[in-house]
Amino acid sequence: MSGITEGPNPNKIYPIDGNKNVQFIKPSLTKGNIVAGDYTYYDSKDGEFFENQVLYHYEIIGDRLIIGKFCSIGPGVTFIMNGANHRMDGSTYPFNIFGNGWEKHTPTLDMLPLKGDTVIGNDVWIGLDAVIMPGVKIGDGAIIGAKSVVTKDVEPFTIVGGNPAKQIKKRFSESKISELLKIKWWDLEHQIMNDNIDAILSYDMEVLKQISKADD
Ligand SMILES: CC(C)(COP(=O)(O)OP(=O)(O)OC[C@H]1O[C@@H](n2cnc3c(N)ncnc32)[C@H](O)[C@@H]1OP(=O)(O)O)[C@@H](O)C(=O)NCCC(=O)NCCS
Repeated sequence: MSGITEGPNPNKIYPIDGNKNVQFIKPSLTKGNIVAGDYTYYDSKDGEFFENQVLYHYEIIGDRLIIGKFCSIGPGVTFIMNGANHRMDGSTYPFNIFGNGWEKHTPTLDMLPLKGDTVIGNDVWIGLDAVIMPGVKIGDGAIIGAKSVVTKDVEPFTIVGGNPAKQIKKRFSESKISELLKIKWWDLEHQIMNDNIDAILSYDMEVLKQISKADD
């Protein structure tokens, strides 16, 4: 046990000196409709800020993107939000956006297919260029394969892949998953978490159960 708090400052946008691609998302945010937990990072391809990966996210729609702690978001991942959707009860052509008299055909929110907030749990790993569709909920500890298009909710500690993303496998037994969801290592007090990173990396259940009791 070190007793000394190590690790990066979660309030610094660029936690790795000299690297402007890897960004902690929380301190980079400027919009009130996105929330991210400590240590969740985006590994940008070209230095673009994470917010630019969140598409069609208009405040007037009111949907939020909520991401937990300790998530790894790979290069080129995009979140398509509810503002992307056109009316589908007739023509999908958005006459209103071109003005010149057509703005009178602006749809009201109840005419649009709104699917609610997008919610990503804790310790979720989203692979390169994955696309997350509006309203999707991804559980803690899930893994999203590279280039997946996620159209439906993903259960905790489940690996999904493809277009549309389907379950590849559960990462652990149901009983281990339910223990992990009780332990919630990502909510441990910082020093306890810091002193037990090896147990977290290997999901040493005996150690995790002990430290989560001690943290109560
Ligand atoms: C999803 C992933 C983690 C799976 O790893 P794994 O458990 O070792 O899986 P395997 O390679 O054994 O493949 C298992 C099955 O999943 C399929 N699969 C793997 N990756 C897939 C993907 N991205 N999309 C769709 N299917 C995928 C395999 O074809 C295989 O299918 P099968 O059972 O029908 O033969 C990995 O393939 C992946 O996509 N990693 C993301 C890497 C990345 O983008 N990193 C960016 C930096 S963060």
